[in-house]
Amino acid sequence: MYPSILIRKKFLDYFKKNNHQIVNSSSLIPENDPTLLFTNAGMVQFKNILTGVEESNLKRVATSQKCIRAGGKHNDLDNVGYTLRHHTFFEMLGNFSFGDYFKEEAIFYAWELLTKEFEVDKKKLLITFFSEDSVTGNIWKKITGFGKDKIISVKSKDNFWSMGEIGPCGPCTEIFYDYGEKFNGSVSRKGITGDRYVEIWNLVFMEFNQIEKNKRINLLKKSVDTGMGLERISALLQNTNDNYQTDIFKETINLITKLSKSENKNSENLSERIIADHIRASCHLISDGVLPSNEGRGYVLRRIMRRGMRHAHILGCSEPVFYKLAPLIINEMGDIFPELKRAETLIIETLKNEENRFKQTIDRGLKILNDEIKKTKNKKLSGNTAFLLYDTYGFPLDLTQDILKDLNISVDLKTFEKKNGRTKKESKTCMERIWRC
Ligand code: GLY
Repeated sequence: MYPSILIRKKFLDYFKKNNHQIVNSSSLIPENDPTLLFTNAGMVQFKNILTGVEESNLKRVATSQKCIRAGGKHNDLDNVGYTLRHHTFFEMLGNFSFGDYFKEEAIFYAWELLTKEFEVDKKKLLITFFSEDSVTGNIWKKITGFGKDKIISVKSKDNFWSMGEIGPCGPCTEIFYDYGEKFNGSVSRKGITGDRYVEIWNLVFMEFNQIEKNKRINLLKKSVDTGMGLERISALLQNTNDNYQTDIFKETINLITKLSKSENKNSENLSERIIADHIRASCHLISDGVLPSNEGRGYVLRRIMRRGMRHAHILGCSEPVFYKLAPLIINEMGDIFPELKRAETLIIETLKNEENRFKQTIDRGLKILNDEIKKTKNKKLSGNTAFLLYDTYGFPLDLTQDILKDLNISVDLKTFEKKNGRTKKESKTCMERIWRC
């Protein structure tokens, strides 16, 4: 087995050997960047260098960056648990060039690291590139010897990466691993989809800065920004297509099963996966200074926590469990991210308080929701009910939507928003009204 701790080290060592400076992960809260809720990619801490706002001596850099993708342009929250490879919190391994090397070397490094250092079977790899970027297609051909069946020109926006609505962006080329015919998947000019093919590494050739919705300018220096999820490459190197079966999640899932003494496991361990993901995100967000609240970052944290806590409830946990999972996360990740150790008491107390508060209302809220589901017509839950659950019982809207997802029921959002808007106007802040639990 290839432990994830060694994978992270090998990645960073490889780029160090190739004259990259190793830079620590930045906080999940972007510094001086009001355009972003959370750090959602490795390039975020380098945004000002990319755009030329900041002078820097850095030319080649590699990082293992903590990221959150729950809110904003890159939002995986709804997928978490339902797929084996999406996360709210994950670590992104990346190498960067700021006006130094460009396409040829970036592609060479990625290929050499994957196929020589990590010894991934070449035959299982496929490449996509942006259809307007034939240079990249040709470099791949030269380096891999692959034909058009393995180097796919893609027309869709999937092969043009941007950080957010505004900010640095450029065409990208993605490396996929083929898990074989037993999984469904398709390859076409529209892109690669399905469980069969997993995107493991994205190389972005940063050439532009989106300064307004419809205005894009050239960056002063052509740069490289790459991202490979540690969880996905660990799954691949640990011979599984399921990130949750890797050493990153295994102990957490075992502890969830033990604490919940769960007989009533739901299909395919959905709840365990969701809890395992959300406890990591919660610990890291708290250690970076986010506390649950009803606005902004704190609200996203609350949504993540309560979604996870509801799944603990589904597994039959009558007592709070999140705070009992936290020491394991802190122990496993605290050497790489010492801020977790420093915030241990805060993390545990915050988790305990939040779960205790939510437990006071969850049963009553679920009963109201279940009664309403029985009465629901046209597969639509009334916005009034969704709002009542939100306003009085502490059910974030997406928690209600998550519960309704399997039943194919949607929420009348228009009414919900209307009521929510009115409430916000009536009281200065939502804090005064909601979650009086
Ligand atoms: N910035 C590259 C990626 O997130 O895929």
